[in-house]
Amino acid sequence: MKSGEKFVLFAIVALLIAGIAQSMLHVKQPHEEEIPYYSTASTEVADKAMVLYREYNCRSCHSLWTLKDVMQSVPAPILDGIGSLKTEEWLYQYLSAQNPQMIIPSRLKKKYQMPSFASMPESDRKLLANYLASLKVKEWYLEQTKKNEYEKLTGKDAP
Ligand code: HEC
Repeated sequence: MKSGEKFVLFAIVALLIAGIAQSMLHVKQPHEEEIPYYSTASTEVADKAMVLYREYNCRSCHSLWTLKDVMQSVPAPILDGIGSLKTEEWLYQYLSAQNPQMIIPSRLKKKYQMPSFASMPESDRKLLANYLASLKVKEWYLEQTKKNEYEKLTGKDAP
């Protein structure tokens, strides 16, 4: 074998060994591919709530199930997992507030702020609050979800 050929052979073997070693060293993170969000709502409640969600255009500012309006530009908190951060009662009060910024102060321009849905029929507010409360996040992603909310609400990095 010529020395040039030896070198090529050596290089190929070295690459193969490096590849195998790397794939052995790549330990998967425990939850790497798992979706942390889920809902405990019945399909009936979920379907009705999603109709309201579209009707009232919540999705023009929020994202849910990682689906958002393509044109979305408002940095509103994502609603996935919100039921692990807020209670149904809190959500109902927030949707019913004449001035939601009395409950959560806003850092955004008026047109991007959470609008008041106080004039929405009570049964719709109840249903939405019930559904939002059912949107849970798994324990292992709870801290990250709180941080994401903090960053959206304040525009600052979570401590
Ligand atoms: C014009 C944009 C806009 C629309 C439309 C909108 N929101 Fe919001 N929402 C926000 C913003 C921004 C916030 C954060 C508080 C603020 O800045 O006013 C917020 C906050 C919230 C929160 C509290 C989130 C948290 O982390 O505590 C909930 C729950 C919520 N919205 C639900 C809804 C629902 C349900 C609808 C539809 C019925 C809706 N929003 C429609 C912009 C919007």
